[in-house]
Amino acid sequence: MAEFSLPKNSRVRQGRHFPALDAKKPRTFRVYRWNPDDAQSNPRIDSYEVDLTGCGPMVLDALLKIKNEIDPTLTLRRSCREGICGSCAMNIDGTNTLACICAIDKIATGDVKIYPLPHMPVVKDLVPDLTHFYAQFASIKPWLRTQSTAPDTERLQSPEDRKKLDGLYECILCACCSTSCPSYWWNGDRYLGPAILLQAYRWIVDSRDEDTGARLDDLEDPFKLYRCHTIMNCARTCPKGLNPARAIAEIKKLMMARRF
Ligand code: SF4
Ligand code: SF4
Ligand code: FES
Repeated sequence: MAEFSLPKNSRVRQGRHFPALDAKKPRTFRVYRWNPDDAQSNPRIDSYEVDLTGCGPMVLDALLKIKNEIDPTLTLRRSCREGICGSCAMNIDGTNTLACICAIDKIATGDVKIYPLPHMPVVKDLVPDLTHFYAQFASIKPWLRTQSTAPDTERLQSPEDRKKLDGLYECILCACCSTSCPSYWWNGDRYLGPAILLQAYRWIVDSRDEDTGARLDDLEDPFKLYRCHTIMNCARTCPKGLNPARAIAEIKKLMMARRF
């Protein structure tokens, strides 16, 4: 019989509350917590009051303030703190985005709710396990593939051909798009998802690459590519303003073009 409720061990319970006494500008952050060392215990939501007078403007600033000054057990990933590395991707106020470029005062009033990227296994707290995502990235062989003899200097590209990579090369593989895609939620084991397909298209349209046919052959599969149903969550959520759905549509057009 179909089960329509969450298994008991995945229900999120209310956790601890950390008040900020005498805070001049308090804001509450409700943060998902789960510790693999306490695997018998359900995930919980801890709430932290943070005094924003002594805090930087971004959600990542608040999380680091919580970690440094309130609760050192909180675990999250971050590196560049300027939207370049993709490691601070998480779900903030219902949207997948980068904590380091998400301004606290742009989030509607009320508590700021922070969860890990959805539908991924959790390593701890806000850190998702991206092993499968990176394996899918490796599967598209994301490097220049050539058969011709290498020129003495670099392989040249016209300004027009270089322009075809705009909107693609900027992808930082943060996984915000793939983890917002319902098709990826249900078929992520075999569907490559928007991030990896955008990366695949980035190499397919690169005028210097000489393996376009093989790249398209690799994607000719009922699951890898064709599970995209143009739901468009990916384009709505990308923190870099990219449009993976368009890249997927372009790959499908190339698939059709070579059939006729
Ligand atoms: S397309 Fe955007 S959301 Fe998706 S992985 Fe790249 S940068 Fe992140
Ligand atoms: S457009 Fe395709 S890839 Fe993007 S969210 Fe929808 S189904 Fe997923
Ligand atoms: S810390 Fe690098 S993108 Fe946020």
